[in-house]
Amino acid sequence: NNLHIEVLKTVPSTNESVKKLALNGAAEGIVILSEEQTAGRGRKSRQFFSPSGTGIYMSILLRPKISAQDSFLLTTSAAVAVSMAIESVAHKDTQIKWVNDVFMDGKKVCGILTEAALSVESGWLDYAVLGIGINVSLPSHGFPEEITDIATSVFSDDKNSGDLRNRLAAEVLNNFMVFYASLTDRLFLPEYKKRIFFLGKAVTVLKENKQCQATAIDIDDNCRLKVRYENGEEEYLSSGEVSIKVN
Ligand code: BTN
Repeated sequence: NNLHIEVLKTVPSTNESVKKLALNGAAEGIVILSEEQTAGRGRKSRQFFSPSGTGIYMSILLRPKISAQDSFLLTTSAAVAVSMAIESVAHKDTQIKWVNDVFMDGKKVCGILTEAALSVESGWLDYAVLGIGINVSLPSHGFPEEITDIATSVFSDDKNSGDLRNRLAAEVLNNFMVFYASLTDRLFLPEYKKRIFFLGKAVTVLKENKQCQATAIDIDDNCRLKVRYENGEEEYLSSGEVSIKVN
């Protein structure tokens, strides 16, 4: 599986660029990596803060032979790829906030956004754009006020860390491609579970505007979260339908 990496100075959104290539029939393996994004996209139509020179903003075009139900495997294995890369390149501990945010010291350091389309004909995905955004060093003016309490960077200064940024990006891609080669075998799953920091802890489950107290028990093969409520009932939760607050 070969990757073709294109490096740009600035772009509205690498996910958007790669999506256009996908729709034009481009082959799997194209990666767009940009120094900056002017309209970086997050999940739930949020923005992703993507200032010049301090982060990794990249998107990979994939054409996996998996069903729509299995597309979570791309995002969750990518979270592990990022976690392991930060640990080996920067020697820092990371955690994964279910389902796919990478955290350091209780704050988010990486977000992942997968945008996929189904091919009705084959029943598999037609394409998937896997977008990864990592805050590598501290932006020169710090993080914007709205996210300063919840965001962090791999390195806590704003020194030019271009070299480490390149190594980190390469390591993320290398790690991911290993998992991707046998995605449905879930080789990444033990590493994923190990990093979910709230297993065994009390959490608040927010579901359909209701709040329930529960204990986070386990992650199953489909990365659903098993919780036990105070009345003893157990449930498997999918990331789309709930959000979790660690008490
Ligand atoms: C999230 O945390 O909500 C997901 C953030 C995903 C950000 C990355 S940066 C590269 C790629 N291009 C985008 O516009 N978004 C993703």
